[in-house]
Amino acid sequence: MRAVVVEQWGGPENLVEREVERPEPGLNEVLVRVHAAGVNPVDWKTRASGALIEWGDVPAVGWDVSGTVEAVGPGVSVFRAGDEVFGMPLFPRQAGAYAEYVVAPARHLAPKPATLTHVEAAALPLAALTAWQALVDAARVRPGERVLVHAAAGGVGHFAVQIAKARGAYVIGTASAAKHDLVRRLGADEVVDYRSLRFEDVVADIDVVLDGLGGETAERSVKVLRKGGRLITLPGPDDVPDTPEGVKADWVLVEPDHLGLRQIAALAEQGALKPVVETVLPLEQAAQAHRIGEQGRTAGKIVLTVA
Ligand SMILES: NC(=O)c1ccc[n+]([C@@H]2O[C@H](COP(=O)([O-])OP(=O)(O)OC[C@H]3O[C@@H](n4cnc5c(N)ncnc54)[C@H](OP(=O)(O)O)[C@@H]3O)[C@@H](O)[C@H]2O)c1
Repeated sequence: MRAVVVEQWGGPENLVEREVERPEPGLNEVLVRVHAAGVNPVDWKTRASGALIEWGDVPAVGWDVSGTVEAVGPGVSVFRAGDEVFGMPLFPRQAGAYAEYVVAPARHLAPKPATLTHVEAAALPLAALTAWQALVDAARVRPGERVLVHAAAGGVGHFAVQIAKARGAYVIGTASAAKHDLVRRLGADEVVDYRSLRFEDVVADIDVVLDGLGGETAERSVKVLRKGGRLITLPGPDDVPDTPEGVKADWVLVEPDHLGLRQIAALAEQGALKPVVETVLPLEQAAQAHRIGEQGRTAGKIVLTVA
């Protein structure tokens, strides 16, 4: 099969297409024919250095996938050949979703939302599960709480705004001015232009901050939290800021989550969670997808299609 692999850790030019052996599904695994593969910052961060991930013999990037079950291994109960599925299998171990086929533990996937195309469904798993696990599982957002989402137009942020709204929260997003219409359309009650204002000058009494930026943004975010407030930062564990008493801060790392995917799919089917796909490119242009993504200005998601 065709797959995009990493020849050596470094720039996007090191992503190359190769003929590799098609994987076989083992116990409780399914073989998925990939229709579309979503692109995430962890794809280019690991391509650059190889850090964080447990790699196989041929380093193959990508986790987000939407496709059709081609074959099932022994013991699988949830899927059969022909089912349409989506997910982010195996993370943080190698999955190799930038390929014609990927093998996944069956319960790292869920049925693809019937209302979405494969391109839209491939935009969901890693970014929407991150938002779900941070807001719902870790921060336990309650109806009426005030939620601040940084980078609200980005991959994680644009799902976080919609998930927080669906949980009944009051949502404030940060974004540059050109992206304010988008963030409002996603349901945000307020949008702050982080380039012309310091958000801590205009935002206060926040219950939950979802911080996709880390560094000084995480540190400044502590100031806007009220007592009982929770901050979840995403870039890395070193981005967790010190907090005063009564306020908590933590890092979460997204993980495969059959139940979370089902809840995300249900929201999508109700029309409460809509993926924004800014750029669609064929698999052979994976390097170009990384060049665009690495600029950090994406509105929504970048998705690769596999013919
Ligand atoms: N821990 C985990 O499990 C986990 C999971 C997923 C992602 N992450 C990490 O979380 C981060 C975000 O991921 P992502 O997929 O959302 O990235 P992304 O889609 O590449 O984010 C791009 C967005 O960031 C916005 N942005 C950049 N600087 C900003 C600032 N100072 N204030 C507000 N918005 C700003 C940009 O909007 P403008 O053009 O308006 O600036 C753009 O819309 C990455 O570091 C990623 O590695 C971690």
